[in-house]
Amino acid sequence: MSTHPVYRPRRLRASAPLRRAFAETSIGPSDLVAPLFLKETLAEPASIGSMPDQFQHTLESLVKEARELVARGVAGVVVFGVPKIKDPDGSEAFASTGISQRGIAALKDELGDDALVIADLCLCEYTDHGHCGVLSGTAVDNDRTLDVYARIAMAQAEAGADVVAPPGMMDGQVGVIRAALDGSGHSEVPILAYAAKYASTFYGPFRDAAEGAPRFGDRRAYQQDPSNAREALREVRLDIEQGADAIMVKPALPYLDVVRLVKDAFDLPTAAYNVSGEYAMVKAAAERGWLDERSAVLEALTSIRRAGADLVVTYHAKKAAEWLS
Ligand code: PBG
Ligand code: ZN
Repeated sequence: MSTHPVYRPRRLRASAPLRRAFAETSIGPSDLVAPLFLKETLAEPASIGSMPDQFQHTLESLVKEARELVARGVAGVVVFGVPKIKDPDGSEAFASTGISQRGIAALKDELGDDALVIADLCLCEYTDHGHCGVLSGTAVDNDRTLDVYARIAMAQAEAGADVVAPPGMMDGQVGVIRAALDGSGHSEVPILAYAAKYASTFYGPFRDAAEGAPRFGDRRAYQQDPSNAREALREVRLDIEQGADAIMVKPALPYLDVVRLVKDAFDLPTAAYNVSGEYAMVKAAAERGWLDERSAVLEALTSIRRAGADLVVTYHAKKAAEWLS
């Protein structure tokens, strides 16, 4: 009797066509969404030190960058506005002439139906204290913040946003935003809920890019504790009850277990946000020649898809889309 194996898993790995034909997970440009930063005071795009190849854009360079992304087949962009004027209530976030409203309108004008324009619906870039909500004393006041989020949602929908995405982690935010949109003639605008957003150190570089670091304290009183996975299921359930159309887990790579849990437990489209620190780690190692950027990026993005993400928000979108097409 032969002692050699009958079933040899290596048979299906032996050539590129075999590997391609039997791959369990697919990924393409249309699975990717690119975050973009738009800064009001700039005359020229400014590079972001901690995020190589990413820029704070002017209106003009924003539209140009979006065009290039769409030409490579990405599904859409998320717009983050950095305003000239910040105040305690973040009023530029809902001003009809606010920078993010102008960005959304310019993008929609340029892209039409070619790609999604997703509006980041938060306050941290707009408040002078840098928190994601308005304060009572030194604490973020959940319910007063909801009233402001409602106004932002209406302004963004009015400007033409295809989707609004609120990352602030205020209790009840999805319900209030849904009601505000429905009550202002925008019942067709979907909400991509950052349902499970962790208080993560991997947001570090983003805070340079969006200039929204808290002036005091941190966000642990509203974002999730990294040790909790079951809590993510409660957060997602609440957002679905309040009318979320799609849900997001953030960050991605340190929380792939959460992506999988959420995907298995609920039937809504699921996104994952491959955040600034995840991007910066790969770029820094690649710059030193310690990792091959292309294979590291494609492996990471494939893993996020394998964990269950239907859509991946990632700063790698432009290069990855090129590599994947
Ligand atoms: C702010 C916001 C953050 C990110 C997206 N929206 C940072 C934070 O919560 O402190 C992080 C994105 C990234 O790191 O790429 N509401
Ligand atoms: Zn915020």
